[in-house]
Amino acid sequence: MIRFAMICGVLVLANLGSAVWAQDTEAGEFYYRQFCVACHGLTGQGDGPAAAALRVPPADLTGLSARNGGRFPMQRVIATIDGRIAPGAHGSDMPVWGSFFAQEADTEGLGLAGSALQTRGRILMLATYLATLQP
Ligand code: HEC
Repeated sequence: MIRFAMICGVLVLANLGSAVWAQDTEAGEFYYRQFCVACHGLTGQGDGPAAAALRVPPADLTGLSARNGGRFPMQRVIATIDGRIAPGAHGSDMPVWGSFFAQEADTEGLGLAGSALQTRGRILMLATYLATLQP
């Protein structure tokens, strides 16, 4: 009986986990389309409509794992989106999203806009979405 309850518990948890994952990915995709597509393109390969105008071409975000020995570099990606790590050499046009999100207007009236909570959440959703773009 205990064994059965444990198995049920594991199944419920596993399902919860995948539901949360799916939600994060959807939200991440939503934000990706809103903020990143212009440069990185719909599929993440760096072929967005604004790409041609940039001094440094936007990175191919489908190759993040491949360029890191086959493992998705989650922490580096988070820090890069946030702006704590500059992605490349000097003169890149990759925006500092941590500061951008921190200055957003409070459109939902929850007092969350611009908070560290919302900024971190959004960056994590974006990074989680980028992980799904790896072949
Ligand atoms: C204005 C154009 C532009 C927009 C918009 C943009 N990026 Fe970038 N991004 C770049 C450029 C250019 C680079 C390459 C920088 C370099 O190599 O110096 C880059 C690099 C990156 C990297 C580092 C890749 C690596 O190989 O380390 C990540 C991660 C990234 N962008 C994620 C995002 C995300 C997520 C968004 C949306 C929230 C976004 N970018 C929006 C231009 C942009």
